[in-house]
Amino acid sequence: MFNKRIKIKELLQTEVIGQEVTVMGWVRTFRNNQFIALNDGSTNNNLQIVVELGLLDDDTLKRISTGASLKVIGHAVASLGKGQKIEVKAKLIEILGDSDAEKYPLQPKKHSLEFLREIAHLRFRTNTFGAVFRVRHALAFAIHQFFNQKGFVYLHTPIITASDAEGAGEMFKVTTLPIDGTADKNEDGSINYKEDFFGKSTNLTVSGQLEGELGAMAFSEIYTFGPTFRAENSNTARHLAEFWMIEPEMAFCDIEDNMNLAEEFIKYLIQYAMDNNREDLEFLAQRLAEEEKQLPQDKRSEWGLIEKLEFVLNNAFERITYTQAITILLESNHYKKKKFQYDVQWGIDLQSEHERYLVEKHFKKPVIVTGYPAAIKAFYMRMNDDGKTVAAMDILAPGIGEIVGGSQREERLEKLEQRMKDMHIPTEEMSWYLDTRRFGTVPHAGFGLGFERMVQFVSGMTNIRDVIAFARTPKNCEF
Ligand code: 4AD
Ligand code: MG
Repeated sequence: MFNKRIKIKELLQTEVIGQEVTVMGWVRTFRNNQFIALNDGSTNNNLQIVVELGLLDDDTLKRISTGASLKVIGHAVASLGKGQKIEVKAKLIEILGDSDAEKYPLQPKKHSLEFLREIAHLRFRTNTFGAVFRVRHALAFAIHQFFNQKGFVYLHTPIITASDAEGAGEMFKVTTLPIDGTADKNEDGSINYKEDFFGKSTNLTVSGQLEGELGAMAFSEIYTFGPTFRAENSNTARHLAEFWMIEPEMAFCDIEDNMNLAEEFIKYLIQYAMDNNREDLEFLAQRLAEEEKQLPQDKRSEWGLIEKLEFVLNNAFERITYTQAITILLESNHYKKKKFQYDVQWGIDLQSEHERYLVEKHFKKPVIVTGYPAAIKAFYMRMNDDGKTVAAMDILAPGIGEIVGGSQREERLEKLEQRMKDMHIPTEEMSWYLDTRRFGTVPHAGFGLGFERMVQFVSGMTNIRDVIAFARTPKNCEF
């Protein structure tokens, strides 16, 4: 009977002193043949198991090594040691699984995050990744709670699609055709996709938005939360080829409402983690502070993780237009001293160095930028009256850069069709999408929050590979 066990988190929180308990977990350390630090992943706090002299024979004692799994039955007693209130005096210890100390890659010492990435199958067993993935879980739960409370319908949009939602062409192909060049060809030499599994060319979705819009045109408000895929060759600390995205889509909603919802949503998630994951956040704050000690003074953050999160909670996000952003950049000393690698002028796609300057140096808080040039944004964004900017909004966060991308959608059929033609988006094949504008079109808007970037922001992890269980990045698909 395994289910009689009590989780370590619960045991450390409840008044069970004097009672007999059963606990199970993995050995973190074993000191003096007497004190086992046991962890079951429910909390970063290890439970101290006290093994009294004579309880176990020498052979069994040797088998209690880092990584081994144990079942322990014993009495919960008040602890005399510092750092813990309760420990368990063992009556019976059963070794469930041995772990050869010589071969176990996780030694009880500090390992670099780079090394842990190579043994990502074991890294959940470290304090850092235990904390990160409990926070990730909590945020995922909070996302559903937030939208559920607001009456949004959770829509599962497809993973395999035949369209390019962002029109950026950064897609992974899905095919069952042979890739050795023997696939059937059309007369013009192109691949005959009629022979392919779906009878057409398909890919992994880059975004659930277009299907999300179809849902919003019936339910008023929906959200998606699922994996999305981008075949962009970006080897950075904030790009993944497979990442999770949350995409709410709201009918009867303009860009202003959209910004308000996004800001409320981000704050809700932070508050949820602060209320429910305090211990883990405090651990991560300390980890970050130690990591930053290695950096030169000017690269360190002014605040600790918790202070940063509190500040974001308590202050309104800055809201500026793209045009204002360009002016700020052009007037900055940074620009005058030629410290930007990329040029600044109206019309450019803001580079990450520009975004970071705006949030980290200039405003020192999250910034919502609206009114981007139409030429650098996706086809579905609503054209503003000036005829050259669109009702787009990106949220830029300190240390992360773009965390949200969204817009009010072009709900006017003719304008949308024209824009699609101008941008060589096939209007015939996307006729189903245009139907939303043909039959009962309404002003609507939505956004996408990159889940891993949000987890990075809350956990303070600097590399996106460390907030997803098994990262998919260019030239890397382990596990
Ligand atoms: O700005 P993006 O490309 O917007 C969309 O996909 C829209 N369809 C969203 C919408 O309006 N419904 O992506 C949205 C967010 C970005 O702001 C970023 O946080 C994240 O998704 N993101 C990535 N995260 C990790 N790795 C990547 N390669 C990412 N690309 C985008
Ligand atoms: Mg974007």
